[in-house]
Amino acid sequence: MQITVVVATGGTIAGSAARADDAVGYTAGVLDAGALLAAVPPLAGLPIEAETLARLDSRDMDHATWAALARRLRALQARPEVGAVVVTHGTDTLEETAYFLHRTLRADKPVVLTAAMRPATALSPDGPRNLFDAVTLARTPGVRGVVAVLGGQVLAGAELRKLHGWRVDAFSAGDAGPLAWVEDGGVRVLRDWPRGEALREDLPDLDPAHWPVVDLVTSHAGARGAVIDALVAAGAQGIVIAGTGNGSVHRQLREAAARAEAHGVRVWRASRCLAGGVVGAPAGELPSAGSLTPAQARVALMLELVPPGRAGSAGLV
Ligand code: SIN
Repeated sequence: MQITVVVATGGTIAGSAARADDAVGYTAGVLDAGALLAAVPPLAGLPIEAETLARLDSRDMDHATWAALARRLRALQARPEVGAVVVTHGTDTLEETAYFLHRTLRADKPVVLTAAMRPATALSPDGPRNLFDAVTLARTPGVRGVVAVLGGQVLAGAELRKLHGWRVDAFSAGDAGPLAWVEDGGVRVLRDWPRGEALREDLPDLDPAHWPVVDLVTSHAGARGAVIDALVAAGAQGIVIAGTGNGSVHRQLREAAARAEAHGVRVWRASRCLAGGVVGAPAGELPSAGSLTPAQARVALMLELVPPGRAGSAGLV
């Protein structure tokens, strides 16, 4: 019999408010994994282990927690009796954690992320249903890779983006669309599960204090190149510019980016638009992050800047 392990990291799904009608003024990350499972009676009796890795409000997510999470998930995936892992997380940085795990974990055993927009104490919390759906998906044969399930939608971790600040239906995979739906305890598959990408399994073993420093800057009317100059002076090794439209970048930032590149700093451009990413690579433009959100592009550039050849660095899975 295959076991599902639920790993809690905090978030609104584990949040608690003083009043049941308060869906925004609450403390995230209060409940542990056992309490989250106890709120979903249909899961009782299933082969599920629960553990609490962190109780973070995910706005405070950091590289040390990412490293600990990836190492723990890797160890769980290595246990033959573990079929899949479910991770509960805050929604605010879910797309970044999902992309980080997508690039640092093998895809053959699924990691199913879930979260909630309303705290556990809300009048009608979305967390218990999402956790039920996540376990349902995790126990479904054939599922692979890092995926997220919210409101019944199953989205690829690498395509995930948060589009809304407080509505329950807050997530999308942009133009890619969902991978599947969890409906009434079953899974309706629409397209292939993630096959994995070039992996940096070694990054979680590197002391987070030595992870490449990559920062994020937004292009906007009146943008100042001094922001990029300051980041370079502060030790940035990479910079992602969240550009306007199809990744277009203000002239002041383009000039500062050229100065940064002359210092050996890698500069990429993404799009600050909620969907679409960046298409095309016109000559003379900064390298683009394609369909990744700016926050995911920051992770991708960081992974690219890890020195090559460290133990465990691997290709596609
Ligand atoms: C968080 O990201 O931890 C708080 C917000 C949420 O989960 O919706």
